Amino acid sequence: MGQVIAITSGKGGVGKSSVCVNLGIVLAQMDYKVCLIDCDLGLKNLDVMLGLENRVLYDLRDAMEGRCSLSKAVLRDKREPNLYLLPACKSVNLKYFQGTDLQLVVQELRKSFDFILLDTPAGIESGFIHSIACADQVVLVSTLDITAIQDADRVIGILMKEGIEDIGLVINKMNPRYIDKGISIRLEDAISWLSIQILGYVFDDESVIRSNNRGMPICLSKNAQINECYEIITRRLLGEQVSLPKYKEKKFLQKLFG
Ligand SMILES: Nc1ncnc2c1ncn2[C@@H]1O[C@H](COP(=O)(O)OP(=O)(O)OP(=O)(O)O)[C@@H](O)[C@H]1O
Ligand SMILES: [Mg+2]
Repeated sequence: MGQVIAITSGKGGVGKSSVCVNLGIVLAQMDYKVCLIDCDLGLKNLDVMLGLENRVLYDLRDAMEGRCSLSKAVLRDKREPNLYLLPACKSVNLKYFQGTDLQLVVQELRKSFDFILLDTPAGIESGFIHSIACADQVVLVSTLDITAIQDADRVIGILMKEGIEDIGLVINKMNPRYIDKGISIRLEDAISWLSIQILGYVFDDESVIRSNNRGMPICLSKNAQINECYEIITRRLLGEQVSLPKYKEKKFLQKLFG
């Protein structure tokens, strides 16, 4: 039976969908069969990030409401044969969206996939609650901005109340220059503030934005630094003992004398 991982955050725009797609690619490259589910109802993203938007005939809602079989709604990635996507619906009235329907879809997918990654919507509304209700574990994404960390802390409280204790932290858009200048908080401070297991971090890199816009996820390109970040996150998620990537933080004297 497949493992279900929800990718979530407190603050929006911190990189949940990017982490979901790239984690999916690295797992698929490791020979696991992976299905991504875009749970961002009405605001779909993953089909565009994977360059699959023109291939979408059916979506999550069609599958939930029985208008098509699950196998018809699930699309295979063009480049990575182990990676599949269940796209989000273009529009949905949340009033009619039942969390139990999503659970049924996820239960069915567990039978044929090793990993099911749920890209949850921003905020802690019903889409978030329905998604985490299906999850065995959670990857919490944040940046090193105080507001993002504060919102992540709030989400940890909600997840724990819901009985989810397997929560791994991914810090995205990490910029060592911002840490040096005191614009972002330090990684160590974020880890001790949130007090959950750190899976890893991904550097702030404009090529990630370019890749997302081109429908060509960064982990399929030759960006060695970002690829290493994602590989370490994935290996730690799988329980391997690997160290975090290295980055240089300027020490006090270096800061004074340049
Ligand atoms: N490591 C990174 N470096 C630079 N930009 C990034 C990085 N990761 C993601 N981005 C960019 O940040 C923006 C938000 O990313 P993304 O859509 O993945 O976030 P999200 O948390 O899913 O957003 P939402 O809450 O709206 O669903 C996008 O423009 C994306 O390309
Ligand atoms: Mg998103």
